[in-house]
Amino acid sequence: MSREKTLERLRKATPAILPSLLLCDFGNLEREIEKLHAAGFKSLHLDVMDGVFVPNFSYGITIVEAVRKLTDLPLDVHLMMVEPQKYVQQFADAGADLITFHAEAVEETRPVLEAIRQTGIAGGIALNPGTDVSTVEKDLDLCDVFLVMSVHAGFGGQAFMESVLEKFEQVRNAPHGENILLEIDGGINAETIGQAHAMGVDLFVAGSAVFRQADYRQAHDRLLEQAGVSNERV
Ligand code: DX5
Ligand code: ZN
Repeated sequence: MSREKTLERLRKATPAILPSLLLCDFGNLEREIEKLHAAGFKSLHLDVMDGVFVPNFSYGITIVEAVRKLTDLPLDVHLMMVEPQKYVQQFADAGADLITFHAEAVEETRPVLEAIRQTGIAGGIALNPGTDVSTVEKDLDLCDVFLVMSVHAGFGGQAFMESVLEKFEQVRNAPHGENILLEIDGGINAETIGQAHAMGVDLFVAGSAVFRQADYRQAHDRLLEQAGVSNERV
């Protein structure tokens, strides 16, 4: 969908929990997506890992395509890979609605943001815990979303790093920061989501806190409750 449409849908859904499909049962993808729909999730997060930028390998374009066929929900594709600019068009063609890529993976973030804009979908920068917001501040004018990693990118199930939370304030207060959707990824669960919500985060990625639970709706309800809203029954 268009950048404008995606942003409108995401804004309407905030605060939103985005299940990270990394831990889903790919042998039963259709069933998993049905369960996520039934649980009321408004957007899905897909983690692409290349085994180079991060020491783990996940999935790529074909899985984004497969998920696209199964849902109309906005697809948030998190690229943990080197040379993301080479693949931006292919991920957009595969059905990504929003692409984030890591500042640490590229020499210049601006050309990649421009390439994403050119495809017509939404985009933004992702930052690992050790990277300062100041390194990318000049490019916030091209960011629809800003993704702060609250674990080191690469694996699900790691412990939440509270120290990254101050980055949200820095982004919000920076020039062009006021309209950016703020996203957090890593270690989000019922115990940690409240702190992130208090910092004004809009989009919360959750892997284990959804997929390691038997009942996805209950897991969703619990996370939303801790973020101060109720899961509107659909
Ligand atoms: C980590 C990924 C995350 C991860 C989240 O590199 O970007 O999206 O799957 O998993 P949890 O919520 O278990 O930390
Ligand atoms: Zn992610």
